[in-house]
Amino acid sequence: MPAEIIDGRLLAAQIYGETLAAVERLKGRGVMPGLAVILVGEDPPSKVYVANKEKMARQLGFHSVLKQLPATTSEAELLAEIDALNADPSIHGLLVQSPLPKPLREETMWERIAPAKDVDGFHPMNLGRLAVGQPCLVACTPAGVIEMLVRSGVTIAGKHAVIVGRSIRVGRPLQLLLSLKSKTGDATVTVCHSRTPDIGAFTRQADILIAAIGQPRFVKADMVKPGAVVIDVGINSVPDATKKSGSRLVGDVDFDAVKEVASKISPVPGGVGLMTIAMLMKNTVKACGDLNPAAP
Ligand SMILES: NC(=O)c1ccc[n+]([C@@H]2O[C@H](COP(=O)([O-])OP(=O)(O)OC[C@H]3O[C@@H](n4cnc5c(N)ncnc54)[C@H](OP(=O)(O)O)[C@@H]3O)[C@@H](O)[C@H]2O)c1
Repeated sequence: MPAEIIDGRLLAAQIYGETLAAVERLKGRGVMPGLAVILVGEDPPSKVYVANKEKMARQLGFHSVLKQLPATTSEAELLAEIDALNADPSIHGLLVQSPLPKPLREETMWERIAPAKDVDGFHPMNLGRLAVGQPCLVACTPAGVIEMLVRSGVTIAGKHAVIVGRSIRVGRPLQLLLSLKSKTGDATVTVCHSRTPDIGAFTRQADILIAAIGQPRFVKADMVKPGAVVIDVGINSVPDATKKSGSRLVGDVDFDAVKEVASKISPVPGGVGLMTIAMLMKNTVKACGDLNPAAP
């Protein structure tokens, strides 16, 4: 039987509904969540992501600020912009859109953003707090993957989760989240990467398989245990002559073949990407001090 498709749109809509309710509560206390995004340069996909983030922030009634800077911006200039937004009391969440034009370094910017406003969750303080199981702002894509699993009724505790990819954006925080002694953790976690020989030998053992490597359709059906839950984080543009644009988006999983083996699978597009933006909005509310948006 083909896998159940995990509908990112539906799950993201649930999170937006909860976030909207939290925004109303905050406004009742005189707080309007403020989200600032710094975009450096003219990278077309980044412009689309940022526009989507801004649109959603406005729909939720946030104060939304977009700082567009030229690709020639120096490190000192970018750091000064971050400092100004760190000091702005109307801004609760702040992120610098990646990728940055060379020679700017993302890591330098991550460390400059005030940890309390770090809605991307990449500051070493937030990653460190995550590692020790303390409350913190968690990176949006990994947090979105956990929400996807939980809201789809997948039991994580006691399962073997295999993550392919170990980046700071996705694989590393996900490894921490899934292995934490917590309600949404307690899995046994294996992390594979570019130096892992015979990745299929590991992925075939996964009850929960998460692909986050940026290689189109890398995970084939024979790499998946029958009945596994498969979450595809990858977003890859591949040529497609039937499209006006000449290309289309695919994930890191060979969706059509793997859906015949898995029990549940997230699609691309329509999967994790939508959760990521929803979690960014949720994190912005969390950054306002309302640590539990679901609380009455
Ligand atoms: N859906 C979303 O919202 C969202 C958010 C973020 C990223 N993404 C997508 O997720 C994918 C990964 O993003 P990222 O930022 O984590 O990428 P990244 O920083 O480039 O990291 C890629 C990871 O995959 C590993 N890897 C690359 N090729 C591999 C291979 N052939 N076999 C095994 N491991 C391999 C790398 O190993 P090494 O560490 O050994 O180099 C690295 O750990 C991309 O397609 C990206 O567009 C989607």
